[in-house]
Amino acid sequence: MNAAIRAVVRTAVYNKLEVYGIRRGYQGMIEGDIYKMQTTDVANIIQRGGTILKTARSREFLTKEGMQKAHNQIQQHGIEALVLIGGDGTFRGAVEFFENFTIPAVGLPGTIDKDLAGTDFTIGFDTAVNTAVEAIDKIRDTAEAHDRLFIIEVMGRDAGYIALHSGIACGAEDILIPELATHIDEVLNRIDQDERRKKTVHILVVAEGEDFGGAKEVYTVVKERFPMLDIRTAVLGHIQRGGSPSCSDRVLASRLGYASVNALIAGRTQVMLGIINGAIAYTPFENAIKQNSVMSKDMLEMIRVLAI
Ligand code: F6P
Repeated sequence: MNAAIRAVVRTAVYNKLEVYGIRRGYQGMIEGDIYKMQTTDVANIIQRGGTILKTARSREFLTKEGMQKAHNQIQQHGIEALVLIGGDGTFRGAVEFFENFTIPAVGLPGTIDKDLAGTDFTIGFDTAVNTAVEAIDKIRDTAEAHDRLFIIEVMGRDAGYIALHSGIACGAEDILIPELATHIDEVLNRIDQDERRKKTVHILVVAEGEDFGGAKEVYTVVKERFPMLDIRTAVLGHIQRGGSPSCSDRVLASRLGYASVNALIAGRTQVMLGIINGAIAYTPFENAIKQNSVMSKDMLEMIRVLAI
């Protein structure tokens, strides 16, 4: 997020535009938590996790009154265009807002969940998934030393990309994601087969939004069926949302931030910017929202093959 903010501010100032930062997203827009930004405000932030502008989940913005207040603040501050950085909630809010109010805007995909269409990667995903990979690798050391089965829960309330990528990268025996119904019998059968083959390490990567109920529920059923196995769970939680961003994320955010200001200057608006096959892509906000994000079938099929 910070690398994106830096790129937006600096590209705008380079083009002799005034830039205002809105703290805490739509909630800050409603409350007028808005300040003028200079290039120095974004010095030394590219390596920092989180966001200097802070973020919030705003219920008020979803109301007509909230949107009206937000629009009034934008007008009072003389703001002529918006750069939105966020995920599914941000673009859902944007679609509703722009049905009621006209103001040029572009969006940047900022979410660890990678659940937006119109881009191959989202800002934060690479960092989050690398954090998960590092943690799972470390857990594997214990799993191997003790011959244990580990059920590891990663983030992803509605999307399984963190589970899918970290699971593949860590050689997980099974990966459970919200996009696919969990057939617990099949999960148990695979453990059973591995047991017969004397496979001693089992790593199950489970997305928090997987439909059986996450690591805790899966643990209960696995333990019941295999009481003799030494089983542990680990919930990685919010460590996935922080930390210094990866090189890929910094470059992605810088490219998108730079391109977003150029898009506004060129009059290309009401689109989310992304990168598809290495090139900048422009997707209308409504098309970027997550149900359009299609998970690669190849990747899903590969899980089973590589886990034999
Ligand atoms: O929407 C992104 C996300 O990281 C989800 O994967 C996760 O379920 C959620 O945020 C966690 O949100 P909170 O910090 O509000 O619990």
